[in-house]
Amino acid sequence: MNGVINWLDERLGVNQIWGIIFLRNMPKGVNWWYTLGSATLFVFIIQAVTGMFLAMYYAPTPDHAYDSIQYIMNEVIFGQVIRGLHHWGASAMVVLVILHMLRIIVMGAYKYPREATWIVGVVLLLLVFGFGFTGYLLPWDEKAYWATTVGTNMAGTVPFIGGFLLVAARGGSDLGALTLTRFYAIHMLFLPSLTVGFIALHIFMVIRQGISVPPAIWEKMEDVSHSVTRARELVGKR
Ligand code: HEM
Repeated sequence: MNGVINWLDERLGVNQIWGIIFLRNMPKGVNWWYTLGSATLFVFIIQAVTGMFLAMYYAPTPDHAYDSIQYIMNEVIFGQVIRGLHHWGASAMVVLVILHMLRIIVMGAYKYPREATWIVGVVLLLLVFGFGFTGYLLPWDEKAYWATTVGTNMAGTVPFIGGFLLVAARGGSDLGALTLTRFYAIHMLFLPSLTVGFIALHIFMVIRQGISVPPAIWEKMEDVSHSVTRARELVGKR
């Protein structure tokens, strides 16, 4: 294994890349609240992997969608586990991303110079909601059908462009085959590619700027701002 790593390091400098990503200095006082972003990323990876397995059996047509889910649940080996992980992972991701955002708000981590990280975060939040909305229709049961009918009706009430939004979302005036394929394509192609791109950008920014100093440490630093040495000690490198 070491041989392979050394071979790659000589050619691509992989040790340096590993160091930049995983061996970063953290400010003192960083705690469990700072792990919520990574937890969200972890659940996203679970969603991507389980989604790929579900896509091997799921059929996005009104005639077969419901049955294909029943097949996954009752016939496919580990089908219940894979679907269960994807189902609960979807809720977990929404909860985690909101908690992560709350940590950013409460600790003021959105302030200068991290405004761009915050803006990319807002895009990620909308993408996570997009996953939830488009995924909800895919089982094509009563609950899914009517929830999407209500959701798309709401889009239809937007002033001026509501009519267009409704038809664009449904692929026609009513929910049908086109709505299902459209939601499926958005759920498994458009949203994942966008999310991967924006997560990469988000994490690039986090690595480039370093994690923000916790407010308690920051306040102490202001008290001792006359002493650069003491301030440096407080920020500290672990
Ligand atoms: C898919 C969704 C997201 C993922 C995977 C993600 C991932 C991460 C990770 C791994 C970090 C490093 C530090 C930490 O975990 O707290 C981070 C930091 C950050 N995130 Fe997110 N994030 C997401 C969504 C959001 C959202 C919705 C916002 C706000 C609207 C946001 C704003 C920020 C900011 C400002 C930082 C810098 C925090 C600091 O330096 O202390 N992120 N994010």
